[in-house]
Amino acid sequence: MGFKKDFFWGGATAANQYEGGWNEGGRGPALTDYTTGGSVKESRKVTWVDKDGNPHVTDQIPFNDTIPEEGAHYETLDGYLYPNREATDFYHHYKEDIALFAEMGFKMFRMSISWSRIYPTGVEEEPNQAGIEFYRNVFKELRKYNIEPLVTIWHFDTPLYLEETLGDWKNRDLIPLFVKFARTCFTEFKGLVKYWLTFNEINNTVNFLPDQMDDLYYQEAYQHLHNQFVASAKAVKIGHEIDPENQIGCMICGITYYPHTDDPKDILFNRYKWEKGIFYCGDVQCFGEYPVYAQKLWDEHHVRLDITEEDLKDLKEGTVDMYTFSYYMSQSVTTHKGEEETKGNMSTGVRNSHLVYSDWGWALDPTGLQYSLEKLYDRYRIPIMVVENGLGAFDEVEDGKVHDDYRIDYYIPHIKAMGDAIDNGVDLIAYTTWGCVDVVSAGTGEMRKRYGFIYVDKHDDGTGDMHRFIKDSGYWYKKVIESNGTDLSKP
Ligand code: BG6
Repeated sequence: MGFKKDFFWGGATAANQYEGGWNEGGRGPALTDYTTGGSVKESRKVTWVDKDGNPHVTDQIPFNDTIPEEGAHYETLDGYLYPNREATDFYHHYKEDIALFAEMGFKMFRMSISWSRIYPTGVEEEPNQAGIEFYRNVFKELRKYNIEPLVTIWHFDTPLYLEETLGDWKNRDLIPLFVKFARTCFTEFKGLVKYWLTFNEINNTVNFLPDQMDDLYYQEAYQHLHNQFVASAKAVKIGHEIDPENQIGCMICGITYYPHTDDPKDILFNRYKWEKGIFYCGDVQCFGEYPVYAQKLWDEHHVRLDITEEDLKDLKEGTVDMYTFSYYMSQSVTTHKGEEETKGNMSTGVRNSHLVYSDWGWALDPTGLQYSLEKLYDRYRIPIMVVENGLGAFDEVEDGKVHDDYRIDYYIPHIKAMGDAIDNGVDLIAYTTWGCVDVVSAGTGEMRKRYGFIYVDKHDDGTGDMHRFIKDSGYWYKKVIESNGTDLSKP
């Protein structure tokens, strides 16, 4: 069996981490433009001034980034770097980068559209034509090389104006604004783009929330998610009306959870982790209704959601065509105290003695990918894509080359795991590795956490001339693609 003949091999990126050109071509600012660099030890910050003009620096609170005071606004402060602004400058290098993707034989390229490049504040009646032109040129360039675009409509970048005035996604006024944005994308890029994802890693909003957060935080997080579910469902429906050929997917952050011990309490706890962290979102987006266990999750934090009859109808009518997810790690979870916790950005859970951890504390576990693929496909029975997977690592340039054997060693068992899942019946149709070209890390804002097959000369202090070249892993991936996943041998 193995990978299908027309399997989509490729790579993935996101506008806020890759595109740059933050204040060019009529683009409006997004919150990521006011988020500083950080590291695995030092969290990223957002900088802002209060209504009296006093500067503030606060830890970025993922998925709840509203500034705490009325009359305040996000602001650049001296002494801080804002790496997402220039990122690795796809804006000015897209032709060169797409040619490199083509050289590696990509069949698919995942990217996102920056909302504020199309609607600079989010509330304009008419879209920014220069923004539309930019993406149209990118899609045409991809088509020139027969590379299928896979487009994420929202990848962590709401226009700043909406964050400051409406308070982000906990306000349901964002729903019609997002739907307008999505409609523009489907209309303007009809015939150029067929594969779409509505919200990137939509489940992050509750999956990474510790249980001890207060009820208000949970109330807002679940409402935020509900508003995104409705926005996504409406977008799916419109996308199908505009072009029945469109294939639109959900996108879930796919962590594979394991019970750490054989204590039945851990087995049950692990099941609840899957429900809250992974299934809650996939069930709503694939089945079109809230699962039975949702009530229990809400009750745990006294959450009372604003859900209208119309919302329930929208959810039913806007189910997705594909299930897609990112996969970087598994996590072992337990009810027992005193186990060694893993330390890493975005990583919780306890140390699994069978696994090796990356420099950023992520548990490297290809078997977990097979486990998730089989479990998720069995549940949803729709085509499935792995739209992010990869190794963030320190790369050294030697004589203009990067010998990143460690990255090849990471990919080989993950690709084998996908092949095994396909042999076991999973309808896997695409694999787009994360950060196929070096991009700014979402979690830490670092450049030195590199994932790419393509090196970009850009550094944490903002220096670098942006020149690009293919690393050893990129030449290896070319061979993998040419052989449709049958030749994984190292050079
Ligand atoms: C996913 C995101 O969480 O993981 C990407 O969709 C992100 O945006 C990727 O870059 C890897 O995370 P990080 O923190 O290493 O960039």
